[in-house]
Amino acid sequence: MNKYIITSALPYANGKLHVGHLAGAYLPADIYTRFLKLCGEDVIYICGTDEHGAPISIKAEAEGKSPQEIVDFYHKSIKESFDAVFIEFDNFSGTSRPQHHQLSQEFFLNLLKNNKINTHLTKQAYCEHDKRFLPDRYVEGECHHCHSQGARGDQCDACGKLIDANLLINPICKICGNTPIIKDTTHWFLDLPAFSDQLKIWLETKENWKDNVKNFILGWIEEGLIERSITRDIDWGVPVPLKEAESKVLYVWFDAPIGYISSTIEWAEKMNKIESPSLELGKSEKKWQDYWLDKDTRLVHFIGKDNIPFHAIIWPALLMGQEKEYTMPWDIPANEYLTLEGEKISTSRDWAIWVEDFVKDFDGELLRFVLAANAPETKDADFSWKDFQNLVNNSLANVLGNLANRVFAFAKKNFDGVLRFPVYDSSSQSEIGFTQWSEFVDEIHTAYAEFKVRKAIKLTIDLAREGNKYFDEQKPWVVVKENPKQAEEILFHCAELLRIISIVFYPIMPKSMLKMREMMNLCLPLQEGIKGGLRVIAGSSTNHPLLWSEIQNTPEQYIIGDFEPLYKKIDDKEIETQIKHLYEKSKV
Ligand code: MF3
Ligand code: ZN
Repeated sequence: MNKYIITSALPYANGKLHVGHLAGAYLPADIYTRFLKLCGEDVIYICGTDEHGAPISIKAEAEGKSPQEIVDFYHKSIKESFDAVFIEFDNFSGTSRPQHHQLSQEFFLNLLKNNKINTHLTKQAYCEHDKRFLPDRYVEGECHHCHSQGARGDQCDACGKLIDANLLINPICKICGNTPIIKDTTHWFLDLPAFSDQLKIWLETKENWKDNVKNFILGWIEEGLIERSITRDIDWGVPVPLKEAESKVLYVWFDAPIGYISSTIEWAEKMNKIESPSLELGKSEKKWQDYWLDKDTRLVHFIGKDNIPFHAIIWPALLMGQEKEYTMPWDIPANEYLTLEGEKISTSRDWAIWVEDFVKDFDGELLRFVLAANAPETKDADFSWKDFQNLVNNSLANVLGNLANRVFAFAKKNFDGVLRFPVYDSSSQSEIGFTQWSEFVDEIHTAYAEFKVRKAIKLTIDLAREGNKYFDEQKPWVVVKENPKQAEEILFHCAELLRIISIVFYPIMPKSMLKMREMMNLCLPLQEGIKGGLRVIAGSSTNHPLLWSEIQNTPEQYIIGDFEPLYKKIDDKEIETQIKHLYEKSKV
């Protein structure tokens, strides 16, 4: 059995979570993780907040707070938003923690020892007004690749390329708006060219990667890799562990991905405390190394497309340059962007739907549904409130919700809720529908395994639609009058279909699928499973009591208990309120 480490890009702890974040890097990863756990795979889902870098210190300065205060505030806010939409990590850490600093310094020193880091005297933007260097996002200007405005000193959002801050056209200081001067300072550089052959060989083995990822990076390597500066003249970050670099910190993109490992270490320590309270030393070490130092581990990084170069080139190089033989990324499913009502999401203009606001008015699970049904898998996708209403009403309420409701109501009314396993006779018609459903199940399985969440949803809703069609065609309300046994059989098949859906739809809709299982008196997974936080039973899914393989275990009978509608329809007024609010709060 393969082990899996699933990660989502560590969100910067400098702002709240909005729907665009969820759609790209988090929801698809949570769905994939839940799917793997259902399949009985050994998987841990790892994340945490990215707590260094210019965006955070800039925000702290603007608000007159310390970076740590900013980080602590947003770490909590982000985690609460994840909980509200049932995104459930095995561990959610943060990169300002001592454990992470220590490991990042170890990474740096190893690379230095292996001659993969060089020093250069460089020219940096320096603001004479603020008396400080202006790395990365501290300076803004026109992109020297694509000439769009507002490019920041580290990366251009318009063309996605990394930027040499000194080549920015008409640069300005982000703090005071003055034009910076250029001043000498020594920096440490990662020798990426030294990795290029090794990287190329490794990348060429990745046949199944999405085209957007593979083409992007092979193109990069063809252009020729260059050395990348990995230190900065600021005081918030992981200190460079060298005497001669006293006032410097590691570049945020150097330390952040190491967070995937340090968060796993934290997870292993927590698990170890629970499993063996005596705290045997070395045991938690083995626990995280079992995942990270096994080359058969499938390390899967879910990211947005702007993170491709860091995850597919720089991060693998950091791993290759270590003493330990870390597992390399197995796949990097990068998603495109989500737009909102046809326009680019903008946090500065407040053209965004914040997760914390959404869940005040609607169930967080509905957001999962819409973002997954409309996931930006191969091209940008749009969220609109009207689509949201249509999808919830037409697919969830009218199709799946309706099927559950009519089946439960009919079973209650005519059979006291008890549906026994049918004993087929030659006149039985109902087996036909049953066989068709198993094909759906296989296709849904494949869709999840290939990161095709849109397809998994479509198939699942189609499956529920088949159920409604079957119910309509079999007319149990007519049959019951003449042949109650045959009507019970029809209903049994419908209940069977709902049970199957409760499993195959669980990765996307964990809450309502468990609720439906409860109405049907079927077994439920551990409560911890949906509440978020720490899993009491190790990330290993073998303990996940809901399993894909159970699909085949048809029970002797179904006992329908109390039930209520699974999904409520959303009326026009609710949607108009949201649209109005969105336009009013955004500053255009
Ligand atoms: N914080 C970065 C972003 O939001 C992502 C960091 S991913 C990591 O774009 F790998 F570096 F952690
Ligand atoms: Zn300035």
